[in-house]
Amino acid sequence: MLELRNISKYFNKNTPSQTIALDDLNLQIKPKEFITVIGGNGAGKSTIMNIISGSTEPDKGMVLLNDYDITFMSEHKRAPYFGRVFQDPMSGTASDMSILENMTIAYGRGKLHSVFRWFMNKKDKEYFVELLKTLDLGLENRLMEKVGLLSGGQRQALTLLMATMRQRPSERIIKRDFVRFSETDKSKAKEEVEKAFLEAKKKRKEALKELKTSGLTKEEFKSKRDLINNEYKDKIYKFDLTKQILLLDEHTAALDPKTAQKVLDLTEKIVNENELTTVMVTHNMKDAIRYGNRLIMLSHGKIVVDVSGEEKKKLTVEQLLNMFQVASKDDTMSDSAILGD
Ligand SMILES: Nc1ncnc2c1ncn2[C@@H]1O[C@H](COP(=O)(O)OP(=O)(O)OP(=O)(O)O)[C@@H](O)[C@H]1O
Ligand SMILES: [Mg+2]
Repeated sequence: MLELRNISKYFNKNTPSQTIALDDLNLQIKPKEFITVIGGNGAGKSTIMNIISGSTEPDKGMVLLNDYDITFMSEHKRAPYFGRVFQDPMSGTASDMSILENMTIAYGRGKLHSVFRWFMNKKDKEYFVELLKTLDLGLENRLMEKVGLLSGGQRQALTLLMATMRQRPSERIIKRDFVRFSETDKSKAKEEVEKAFLEAKKKRKEALKELKTSGLTKEEFKSKRDLINNEYKDKIYKFDLTKQILLLDEHTAALDPKTAQKVLDLTEKIVNENELTTVMVTHNMKDAIRYGNRLIMLSHGKIVVDVSGEEKKKLTVEQLLNMFQVASKDDTMSDSAILGD
């Protein structure tokens, strides 16, 4: 569970232009909740996303992930657990790198000094191709093409995929964070991880020992050793971390309506298939009602509406609009945003 507890965020504090972006805000996000967030310009939507992802620190309050205080954990360290897609299709991928290179980096495999390795790991490549096929955009046939050549919608779909794909963090990170963020019994999880590691390590040691006495040439030895090391890595495969929480900040706003629809449907599919916890900011009230299982409305850094389940499903744009007008008298929202098309 992700929890924002009494979060306040000011900008330009103690100056005449001081603004309060979030005002003593409380939000508990349960696993597998798909929350749509609406609110006028400047209501604090993006600031919430920044606080969750760690790109902004709150002035007051705490951020908890599975009861663990991550308020001041760096964005970089949180990255394995959060996927994020922004409004700008240019921001989530590197234009001058190929689809394969972008995905490799997202997978946590990218090492600048070993570019050639990227192309050699067949298993990773197969995994990427499988993922790309699910988009149904033909991108699996364009692995070597630079991402800069893709359309905005294709690029946003790829970013979405990269933001939600499984992670392969280092052994150290798995050990540290799997235990820390495990939702199961912590001591049991730790025990399990330790056991699997020790077993895999023991087996690797034995295999390497055997190899040393097998009289192979230097080259043969090296390639066999790599194989063994790879096999050992796969033993800890089951501790691969799936992105747990997906943060979408108006990620379809820059796309034409048809493409936006396609990317939204893809979003829903990816969220359902991976059972992701999702927070999606949108200015489109229709989408806010249609997607997800909980809806919150923000105004002046506070949650003014919070509906879920059946109540949310029954909402109409008119009702939502009324709520918006009552809750945020002096906020602004464009007609197209309200009406949705
Ligand atoms: N880096 C910053 N410096 C100064 N003020 C900021 C900064 N970021 C946000 N703010 C202010 O904080 C408030 C909340 O901004 P935020 O970006 O969270 O709004 P939003 O709900 O995402 O709006 P929009 O719909 O326009 O994207 C606004 O008043 C904004 O001007
Ligand atoms: Mg915003």
